[in-house]
Amino acid sequence: MQRAIAVLDSGVGGLTVVKEVMRQLPREKIIYFGDTARAPYGPRAAEEVLAFTREIVDYLSQYKPKMIVIACNTATAVALQDIRARVRIPVIGVINPGARAAIGKSKTGKIGVIGTDGTIKSRAYDHALRCLSPRVEIVSLACPKLVPLVEDGDFHSEETRSIVVESLEALRGVPMDCLILGCTHYPFLSEMISSYMGESVHLISSADETAREISTILHENNQLAGRDERPIHQFFCSGEPRKFQEIAQAWLGAQIRLSPVVWHIP
Ligand code: SIN
Repeated sequence: MQRAIAVLDSGVGGLTVVKEVMRQLPREKIIYFGDTARAPYGPRAAEEVLAFTREIVDYLSQYKPKMIVIACNTATAVALQDIRARVRIPVIGVINPGARAAIGKSKTGKIGVIGTDGTIKSRAYDHALRCLSPRVEIVSLACPKLVPLVEDGDFHSEETRSIVVESLEALRGVPMDCLILGCTHYPFLSEMISSYMGESVHLISSADETAREISTILHENNQLAGRDERPIHQFFCSGEPRKFQEIAQAWLGAQIRLSPVVWHIP
């Protein structure tokens, strides 16, 4: 049986990473877990996010994945090192890939970061960016109102637009040429975010770079899926499956057959 890449998130945000993995690595099987019943993780205490992430990794481990992708910035910030120490397969997060993509793209070295309260407080992006480029100038902003809108599937309403505008107001006029979407939910709102920030600001999503990192690791480990693989992906969520299915199908495309399995929180 084909071994999968396990991708986990607090909810639907990690699907932005899944979409890019499917595009770059179409023969790879994906097992996705969205902890929709307990999203958002952003306002939760670090210990709680760590405990939830461990639970999900334990759950997904029964499927013997070949690697784990923590496709949630909040969980990456608090749990990446811990999970790496607990399992024997490669584990990656989304913060280093996002930071690398921004440093690669920025010409001015002035970079904005938006994320959840948990991610911004952890200063994980500051650390990752400064490791790559010590002189980078960073402005960070927590946008806690955005994740619930995405979990509700509300990406296009005028109300959402005004919450996006209000959330980003503190960045108005701040010089930057890249803005890191430091939460995997935010690419769902990228049109609105981009129209507020203007054309001179590149939006950086970690999805693309994360998929590249997955590819590199699998290649190095000689674990890339064979040419004849026709993967059947699996999706799990801990909350209401209909909403999850609706959002996942809209984001990933109707051709993805999806019947999410509900995991009942122990
Ligand atoms: C959240 O659950 O609050 C957001 C997930 C993320 O940080 O990517």
